Amino acid sequence: MSGRKRILTVFGTRPEAIKLFPLVHALEADPRFESRVCVSGQHRSMLDQVLEIASIAPDHDLDLMRPDQSLDALTAELLTGLGKIFDAERPDWVVVQGDTATAMTAAIAAYYRKIPVAHVEAGLRSGNIHHPWPEEVNRKIIGTIAALHCAPTETSAAALRRENVDPAAVHVTGNTVIDALHWITAKIAERPELADGLAHLERRFAGKRIVGVTSHRRENFGEGMAAIADAIRRLAGRNDLAMIFPVHLNPNVRAVMNERLGGLDNVALIEPLDYPHFARLLDLATLMLTDSGGVQEEAPALGKPVLVMRETTERPEGVEAGTAKLVGTDADRIVAEAERLLDDPAAYAAMARAHNPFGDGRSAARIVGLLATT
Ligand code: UD1
Ligand code: UDP
Repeated sequence: MSGRKRILTVFGTRPEAIKLFPLVHALEADPRFESRVCVSGQHRSMLDQVLEIASIAPDHDLDLMRPDQSLDALTAELLTGLGKIFDAERPDWVVVQGDTATAMTAAIAAYYRKIPVAHVEAGLRSGNIHHPWPEEVNRKIIGTIAALHCAPTETSAAALRRENVDPAAVHVTGNTVIDALHWITAKIAERPELADGLAHLERRFAGKRIVGVTSHRRENFGEGMAAIADAIRRLAGRNDLAMIFPVHLNPNVRAVMNERLGGLDNVALIEPLDYPHFARLLDLATLMLTDSGGVQEEAPALGKPVLVMRETTERPEGVEAGTAKLVGTDADRIVAEAERLLDDPAAYAAMARAHNPFGDGRSAARIVGLLATT
């Protein structure tokens, strides 16, 4: 059918897939669009877990993940690979999300072809190009190129305006991660068996409080990761706690976590969870310890306190709302902050309030509206 806008949505990693599947679903359901999907395969199994649960069959898959891939080799392969697909597809819009190498190179490849770019989760800024690294620069590059900036909050929209982005191109849409969380929660309610795979850990750790842990940031490799592992080891010395830690597949993360935490009674180092099971872990957890971006948005929405093991955050909204706290990567500080929350009911209650500054679950619909009219 002629006259439909052809939208090519491009992603490659687990968090992009989670935050873009609600938009892909909305585009597919809307007759004004021809929805096309290109995955880079920057992640493989962690991406495929999301594609499967969201029933997305990509039109293109570059399948370019390599073990322990370097940023330059990854970037070079992405740029040439995506360029060829854009030449073949000739979309009216390229949609990217966030700040990964896939998103940044897709924006550049689209710019080289004068294809307009819509940026989902636009305007996040830490103000430090080394934290998070390389994401702060990736998203600034995308922000320079994009014709449509879908900012999750007023704070992120203001950051773009401060960088002289045309205010007419900046829209506060909320973050699609909340759409994704609502969708997966409804799916689990319909089919509880999708998330029942943690039952053995629930039995093993019966009577203990669960702390959920994730960690993968490149800028934490080396000293930072070692300190995070040490903090978890020390917390695991308490009889009333158990850690459930789905370990990212990046070999730089796995090596240090296996070496320092393998074999401990109170620590379950497990494979990355698919999205329904991660939602279940968020539900079980008393507290989340993380350096992830997405988890900083999901946990507050569910009223779970988050200690953010990073030096800076581009998501100040959770901290301002009182449900997230920046604790850095110093082991003493992580242990002290976690113990304060665990041992002081008033401190815990003050953080454990469901608060949702990141969206209302209708972000994808707003973005579709903008794509239809821009
Ligand atoms: C990437 C993103 C980061 C995002 C994170 C989410 C960049 C530069 N980094 O970081 O912004 O926060 O994803 O998780 O874009 N691996 C597997 N299987 C998988 C996924 C990864 O084996 O399914 C291993 C591979 O050895 C791969 C390595 O992890 O080379 C690193 O993957 P990569 O995407 O380069 O970096 P991440 O640290 O995952
Ligand atoms: N997540 C998941 N399984 C896991 C760990 C995380 O499905 O084992 C989800 C989580 O719910 C969130 C996203 O992955 O939506 C976060 O991805 P990640 O931490 O890898 O990247 P970041 O958000 O830091 O870019």
